[in-house]
Amino acid sequence: MIRTENHKDLTRMNTFGMKVSCGRFVEYDSLEDLFSLDFDELPKPLFHMGAGSNLLFTGDWPGTVLHSGIKFLRPMGVEEDEVLVEVGAGAVFDSFVEWACSRGLWGLENLSLIPGEVGASAVQNIGAYGVEAKDVIVRVNCFDLEQRDMVTFENADCRYGYRSSFFKEEGKGRYIVTSVLFRLSRKYSPKLDYGNIRAALGDGPVGTPDDVRRAVIGIRNAKLPDPAVTGSAGSFFKNPVIPREHFERIEAEAGPDVKVPHYDTPEGVKVPAAWMIERCGLKGLTLGGAAVYEKQPLVIVNLSGNASPEEIVSLENQVIAAVMEKFGVELHPEVEHL
Ligand code: EPU
Repeated sequence: MIRTENHKDLTRMNTFGMKVSCGRFVEYDSLEDLFSLDFDELPKPLFHMGAGSNLLFTGDWPGTVLHSGIKFLRPMGVEEDEVLVEVGAGAVFDSFVEWACSRGLWGLENLSLIPGEVGASAVQNIGAYGVEAKDVIVRVNCFDLEQRDMVTFENADCRYGYRSSFFKEEGKGRYIVTSVLFRLSRKYSPKLDYGNIRAALGDGPVGTPDDVRRAVIGIRNAKLPDPAVTGSAGSFFKNPVIPREHFERIEAEAGPDVKVPHYDTPEGVKVPAAWMIERCGLKGLTLGGAAVYEKQPLVIVNLSGNASPEEIVSLENQVIAAVMEKFGVELHPEVEHL
């Protein structure tokens, strides 16, 4: 089925809760529906959204917003300890995680409770607690808007990086993800090395993916705003990666009593933006209805429920300027601005 609506209010379709609308909204439930759409006739520009959990609408969208209602979940076979599962792009990502964990399948448990849909998980290479979507993705099936045909990308073709992919860069706007093939494992393989995961699990043995899922949900609920209560798009900024010399200057300036959190990566040293924002004294800073979230300053929230896109963007710029001034580091938003 295809549902079409002109001048649709998108307020409830973006987790930031921006009060915006689009010229036309089109939602389809199957590949056949997608093939049957007359793309030439749709008002331009086209934008294909997921759950709207990583988006900042900076105004009304004049053209068409597309949304996938393809939600199937199809186990595709078992090979020794591996289980392949194909999932429709419109399925809620966390429902898939819950499904896998409840069946004792490993691989997705650290990604528990991340808002959003399966298609976007493959575009954005979502990640949390030491695991990224790319670690479990085998291939991504897409509809090519230029060729008007299906095309398959193997994991390596997706050119995954930290919160990035071919679909967000060179391929931007050309491909609509229709489904994703994931590889899960029946073999005991918890990944507990990130931050406070081990601590959150307590002393007991880690038996199942569900044990890890519960711990991750506990950490996320304690630190991140509940989208049902406070609008946000999760982490607003990416964690910057800087040259080692630059990091050493920051460490020297912080003084011997301060331990600067960091992770070494092949590209340089990754320093949590949350730490820098906190050191700038910006935790809890408000601008109109927008605020730097108290418990996790990497998140900008629509605190009043009535924040305008302009207020969010002004606060964003204020954070970027403060971190640049104090640390000489340029923060980049993780949230896509439209
Ligand atoms: N920190 C502070 N002050 C704070 C919070 C954090 O100084 O108030 C420092 C601490 O040193 C902490 C470090 O920042 O150890 C990292 O914090 P956290 O583990 O909360 O992770 P993050 O780097 O701030 C990233 C992701 C999150 C993901 C977590 C856990 C990005 C942009 N964000 O945040 O993803 O849940 O790691 O893996 O990479 C999202 O993308 O929307 C998101 C929530």
